[in-house]
Amino acid sequence: MTGTEVLAEAGRRRTFAVISHPDAGKSTLTEALALHAAAITSAGAVHGKGDRRGVTSDWMDMEQARGISITSAALRIDYDGRVLNLLDTPGHADFSEDTYRVLSAVDAAIMLLDSAKGLEAQTLKLFEVCRARRVPVITFVNKWDRPGREPLELLDEIEQRIGLRPTPVNWPVGIAGDFRGVVELGTGGQGREYVKYHRTPGGATKAEEERMDAEAAAEAEGRAWEQAQEEIELLGEIGAQYDEASFLAGESSPVLFGAALPNFGVGGLLDTLVDLAPAPGSKADEKGAERPVEAPFSGQVFKMQAGMDKAHRDRMAFVRVSSGRFERGMVLTHAATGRPFATKYTQQVFGSERTTVETAFPGDVIALVNAAALSVGDTLYEGPKVVYPPIPSFAPEHFAVARAKDAGRYKQFQRGIAQLDAEGVVQVLSSDVRGEQAPVLAAVGPLQFEVVQHRMAEEFKAPIELANLDYTLARRTTAADAEKLHALSGCEVLRRRSDGELLVLVHNKWRLRVIEREHPGLVMEPLLAGG
Ligand code: G4P
Repeated sequence: MTGTEVLAEAGRRRTFAVISHPDAGKSTLTEALALHAAAITSAGAVHGKGDRRGVTSDWMDMEQARGISITSAALRIDYDGRVLNLLDTPGHADFSEDTYRVLSAVDAAIMLLDSAKGLEAQTLKLFEVCRARRVPVITFVNKWDRPGREPLELLDEIEQRIGLRPTPVNWPVGIAGDFRGVVELGTGGQGREYVKYHRTPGGATKAEEERMDAEAAAEAEGRAWEQAQEEIELLGEIGAQYDEASFLAGESSPVLFGAALPNFGVGGLLDTLVDLAPAPGSKADEKGAERPVEAPFSGQVFKMQAGMDKAHRDRMAFVRVSSGRFERGMVLTHAATGRPFATKYTQQVFGSERTTVETAFPGDVIALVNAAALSVGDTLYEGPKVVYPPIPSFAPEHFAVARAKDAGRYKQFQRGIAQLDAEGVVQVLSSDVRGEQAPVLAAVGPLQFEVVQHRMAEEFKAPIELANLDYTLARRTTAADAEKLHALSGCEVLRRRSDGELLVLVHNKWRLRVIEREHPGLVMEPLLAGG
C-alpha cells in the first residue's frame, strides 16, 4: 500500500535547478514559472533582486548588510497535477560550493541562456557538474523579445563548445528583437502549431499567446514564417529531433526559445519539463546497489545552513529525499554514526518562509533543524541501512591562509576550522611546510571566506586573520609527483584534510602550461568543475 503511494507521489515530482550566468534572467524565469503555474498571484512575489526582491533572508547579519541571499531556497510549484521542486543555485556574489552541490540533489536542469550572449562562464562551470553527473539538461534561450543572435548560430555554439546536441522543441518566427512567436515542434518534430506573441506592456502579467494553424500563421507573418519553415526543414535534415535516450544520458538537450520577462514560452517550458524530465528514480549506494524509491525512507544532506536562529545557534540540514515516505516525528538513523536522529521539527524552507512539513516524498527537500551532528553528504535512513556516496568536492579557485588572531584561543580555532571543514563551508588544506597553525582555506567563491570569518568570530569565539594566496587553480596529484612539484616555483602541494587528497595549487593556467610542458608525465588531474 505505502509502496504504491510512494511510487505514485514520486512519479508526480520533477526536481530541478536552473543553471545560468548572472543576468541571464534566472530570477525573472523563476517568477514566471511560478506565475504561470499559478503558485503565486503576481510576478515579483517570489524571488528577485533589488526592489523586486520578495524573498529576503534575515538569517545572518551579513546577508542583510549585503542584501544578498546566502541561503538557497527550494520552491515548490504545483502544476498540472505535478509537484515541481525548483532548487535555487546561488549565483552572483554568493556563488560557492553550495551552488554546485545543489546539482547533486536534482534530476534535471534548465540551462538558461541570454539570447544575445549564448554560453557564459558560470553556465559552463555549472554545466560541467551536470555533465559529470549525467543530469539531463533542457535549454531555454531567453530574452528573445530583444535583439540577439541567430538561433542556428546559438545551437551551433552549444554543440561546438560543450558537445551537447541541441534538439529544438520550438522554433522562433521573426528575428530576435522582432520576435513574432514560436512554432511548436513537439518532440516528434511534426507538431507545427504556431503560437503568436503579443507584447504586453510592463511585463508583470502574462503575455498573450494566440494559437493558430500553419495557414493562418503564413498569412499573419509572411516572410518571417517562410524563413522559419526553411530553418525547421534544415533542422530535420541535420537530425536535430528530440531523442529520449540521449537526453536522459545528458548528451542532447531539448531547446526552447522564449522570453521570461513578458512570460512568453514559459508554459511550453513547464510542459517540456513535466513531459520530458525524469521523475525521481532509484539511487545507487556507495557499493553501487540501487535503493528503489519505494524502499523505506532515505535521504542525503546536500547543504548545511548555520546561524539562522541566533538564540539557538541552530544548524539546518537540507535533505533531498531519495526513497520512501517521510513523516515528521520519524526517528531516522544517521548512517555516519549509527545514532538516531529525531525529526520533530522538520521544515520546508521557501526563501525566508519556514513551514512545518508533515510528509515528504522522493524528490522533495526537507530541512532538519538542530542538525549540528550532520555534514554535507551524510545519509539518513529508516529500515535497512544505506550509505550514499559522498558529494564530490569541487575545484576551488580562491585560497587564503587562516590564522587565529589570538594565539590563546588556538583550541577554539582548531575546533571551528574542523567543524567548518566537516560542514563543507570551505575545503581545508594543510602541509608540513605551513604547519597546523596556518591551514589554507580553499573555496569556489570568495564569499565562503566571509562566512568562515563571521562564524569563527561569532560562533567559535576565535576571530581569524586571512591572507589571500596568489593561486587560482588546483589539480590533483600523487605522492610521488608531489615531491617533484615541491621543487618547482609557482606552485605548492597541500593535502586536503577531509579526504587526504594531494592538491597542487598553481598561480594561473599559463604557469600550469609551462609546468606541463617542461615536466611532461607529472600527474596533475583536473578536479570537477571550474578546474
Ligand atoms: P538573474 O537572476 O539571472 O541575474 O537575472 P534577472 O532575472 O535579474 O534578469 C536580469 C535582467 O534581464 C533584468 O533586467 C531582467 O528584467 C531582464 N530580463 C530577464 N528576462 C528577460 C526577457 O525575457 N526579456 C527582456 N527584455 N529582459 C529580460 P534589469 O534591468 O537588470 O533588472 P530590473 O530592473 O528589470 O530588475
